[in-house]
Amino acid sequence: MEKIDTVCVIGGAGFVGRHIVRLLQASGYTVRVPTRRYESAKDLIVLPDVEVVEANIHDPQDLAALLSGMDAVINLTGILHEGSAGRGTFQQVHVALPGKIAQACAALGIRRVLHMSALNADAQSQSAYLRSKAQGEAQLRKDSLALTVFRPSVIFGPEDNFLNQFAALLRRLPVLALACGASKLQPVYVEDVARAFVSSLENPATVGQSYALCGPTVYTLQQLVQYVSALQQHRRWIFTLGKRASYYQAWLLEKLPGKLMTRDDYHALLGNSVCEGAFPAVFGFQPTALEGVAAQYLGSQALISPYDAWRGQARR
Ligand SMILES: NC(=O)c1ccc[n+]([C@@H]2O[C@H](COP(=O)([O-])OP(=O)(O)OC[C@H]3O[C@@H](n4cnc5c(N)ncnc54)[C@H](OP(=O)(O)O)[C@@H]3O)[C@@H](O)[C@H]2O)c1
Repeated sequence: MEKIDTVCVIGGAGFVGRHIVRLLQASGYTVRVPTRRYESAKDLIVLPDVEVVEANIHDPQDLAALLSGMDAVINLTGILHEGSAGRGTFQQVHVALPGKIAQACAALGIRRVLHMSALNADAQSQSAYLRSKAQGEAQLRKDSLALTVFRPSVIFGPEDNFLNQFAALLRRLPVLALACGASKLQPVYVEDVARAFVSSLENPATVGQSYALCGPTVYTLQQLVQYVSALQQHRRWIFTLGKRASYYQAWLLEKLPGKLMTRDDYHALLGNSVCEGAFPAVFGFQPTALEGVAAQYLGSQALISPYDAWRGQARR
């Protein structure tokens, strides 16, 4: 594999992107990060060897200018919900954009591409999010590219939109009726995802591979929410809705501003988001336990485990 010095991280100003960009910079790479809003990448602008550029990544000319002079491309661009406030559609962001990246790379002679997909990405999925993630992967599977695909379960970390969102809800609501609370998840730490990306960049063994990324432990959604509640030292009644009620709650929330949940999330949550095997050995480290990290940004009870919280609420 050719030596890599310069990397364009598309979607690099987002939650996962900021961790990957910082690790790339600390590892000696020169990094270019496009964003729609320069101010949203404030903490990256100050880093040496990181260039933040305002650009329209969907425009083939802007994209070619962005990728010009780069040795590798990392694509993290993604949305959880379609529609409002400049989000775009799954087709535009998850499918068409990877196709444009593949074309631009071929034209510029860039071979190395790392691509962020999602666990359970499947062209036959009932979830449009997961279908589009599978279609996006397919856009990049070209002979001209040395591609590595990453498929994480839900990602946690200080600025996550997952545990923090439940923490915010639990601060306000005494009772939480949880859609799909029995669904199983295997959350993975954002720093571990960043390490996996950066360590694969110049490792030829990872070319042509897809990696499922999960943390060390499987939880139900309800166990995780009870854990957040225990960390915050709240007494809350949290219960799981049945399948039909979960669907109707998703339907209702989809209509409300903020889209806390959609029917597409419901379909994605019906399948468990867990890994079949261990964390990929090729990266040379074990994934971080959620308990060691989440307690630091969600509460003070650092030693409570999600299982203790669950047993406590179940009075066992
Ligand atoms: N977070 C998770 O739990 C999780 C789990 C599995 C997979 N993933 C995948 O990991 C990737 C990163 O997730 P994240 O949590 O870091 O998301 P995030 O914080 O929302 O960041 C998403 C990035 O995508 C860019 N983006 C979104 N919509 C765009 C559009 N219409 N046009 C141009 N750029 C757009 C944003 O660019 P701007 O800087 O211009 O706003 C932002 O930098 C996504 O592909 C996501 O599907 C995330």
